[in-house]
Amino acid sequence: MSALPDEEPSGGVSVHPGQGSAGDTETVAQLEGVSRVYSMGAEEVHALDDLSFSFGSGEYWAVMGSSGSGKSTLLNILGCIDRPTRGEYRVRGQAVSELDDDELSELRSKELGFIFQSYNLIPQLNVLENILMPVLYQENPEEGIEERGRVLAERVGLGDRLTHRPAELSGGQQQRVAIARSLINDPALILADEATGNLDSKTAGEILELFDELHAEGKTILIVTHEPRVGERADRILRLKDGALEGIEDNRR
Ligand SMILES: Nc1ncnc2c1ncn2[C@@H]1O[C@H](COP(=O)(O)OP(=O)(O)OP(=O)(O)O)[C@@H](O)[C@H]1O
Ligand SMILES: [Mg+2]
Repeated sequence: MSALPDEEPSGGVSVHPGQGSAGDTETVAQLEGVSRVYSMGAEEVHALDDLSFSFGSGEYWAVMGSSGSGKSTLLNILGCIDRPTRGEYRVRGQAVSELDDDELSELRSKELGFIFQSYNLIPQLNVLENILMPVLYQENPEEGIEERGRVLAERVGLGDRLTHRPAELSGGQQQRVAIARSLINDPALILADEATGNLDSKTAGEILELFDELHAEGKTILIVTHEPRVGERADRILRLKDGALEGIEDNRR
């Protein structure tokens, strides 16, 4: 995590230069005074309240906080599934608010890999097809993309399950398909919402090892979790409370 180059927005919490970040890593994602307000009739729910922070290439972050603190809301904004009510979100310098829906889905498919708690696999498609899902609708898919899908399947230990449908896989295997799918476009940023929440501890451990490996390869990873032992694997923990940044912990040494 690195500080915003500009003055921090009033009331916002931001991290100051030099804290946590190794050298001048490229900024992958940056939030500037981001709020997300849900209107519920006359009532407003402030799910995120004036968040300002950024994180750099190759960093491994965990987002923690009690239920309802805004973790999923934050992840949805980071993943361009949702837009801020106020403030600006930038991916690699590109302001998301300036993009139309087509440009946004292009950004999402090229730069972001999203892993959902509930896997979100397509039941009719087999393992390889699910991994290739993000490129199925691309006009000019990269050459050799199917081979890349196979390599990723091998990578997550499913090389011998390519033609299985999701219903013919265990929960941990389905989650690994979802991880391989999130990697197919070689995204700048991998976002995972409670990726191990539904798994037994052994399988969860295997998934966390996979994240460790991806991190060691230089991927930028942000995971949402409520489990301290999962959060401890990340280099830094961002704690949310009632939609605001409560604090940042550096786990490294
Ligand atoms: N679509 C919505 N409409 C209205 N309010 C919402 C909506 N989605 C979330 N909220 C509210 O926003 C707040 C943050 O919700 P969010 O789902 O981000 O929490 P969370 O930290 O992910 O919680 P959990 O750990 O239970 O998944 C909560 O108070 C929630 O009730
Ligand atoms: Mg949530």
